[in-house]
Amino acid sequence: MTESNAANPVTVVTVDGPSGSGKGTLALHLARRLGWHYLDSGALYRILAHAAMAEGLLLGAEAESELAELAGRLRIDFRLPEPESPLGVRVEVDGVDCTDAIRAESVSQGASKIAALPLVRQSVLALQHRFRQPPGLVTDGRDMGTVVFPDAGLKLFLDASAEERAQRRHKQLKDKGSSVSLRALLASIRERDERDRGRAVAPLRPAPDAIVIDSTDMPIDEVFDMVWQLVVDRGLAQS
Ligand code: C5P
Repeated sequence: MTESNAANPVTVVTVDGPSGSGKGTLALHLARRLGWHYLDSGALYRILAHAAMAEGLLLGAEAESELAELAGRLRIDFRLPEPESPLGVRVEVDGVDCTDAIRAESVSQGASKIAALPLVRQSVLALQHRFRQPPGLVTDGRDMGTVVFPDAGLKLFLDASAEERAQRRHKQLKDKGSSVSLRALLASIRERDERDRGRAVAPLRPAPDAIVIDSTDMPIDEVFDMVWQLVVDRGLAQS
């Protein structure tokens, strides 16, 4: 199979799925192993929601064109950790670190609200395409394989039950010292899932040519080994 096209010969691997499915960890791990660029597209919606909240904009259709305009103005920088570092990706917006701020629950809900607005998605689309640089790109999101990079060389869709995803998030938060009830997390995940899957533009769903992996009962190492084999089989890397 050919993984590039005449318009842009840079290969893309897309990892889509709902929040908490492990797609972020998988995509980052893949990008580092391949030595490719990495795009966390959810972070772009989070950054925009966070910036809009700071500017006092409403997060709905009333402010759609202001939100789309704001997306085009932000200077966003992802800083990847050193290969062996346990740290995650750092995010800077207009020179200010907002890595932790964009993970707040209010920002998660805000991101999912503005992500349903067509003009916002159009603005973010242009931002996303700029990340496609040699030698390759691994992306993490909801519509990477269906809308943003339909010509990707390998499309993955990582899923897991809502209960398992809530458990994982609960553990993550507990390890960081914050206590949110499991029940509240599960409700929030279900609410976001419903909005992400049910929206008219770019709903969360696997591309017809995506490989769907259910990680509910699979440790992330096992998922990675399975995916790495797919990467090798497609000729994108050597084992
Ligand atoms: O993946 P993450 O939870 O960080 O994404 C935050 C929100 O951004 C999601 O709930 C979803 O509504 C939106 N999103 C999207 N399309 C993407 C990535 C994220 O609509 N490609």
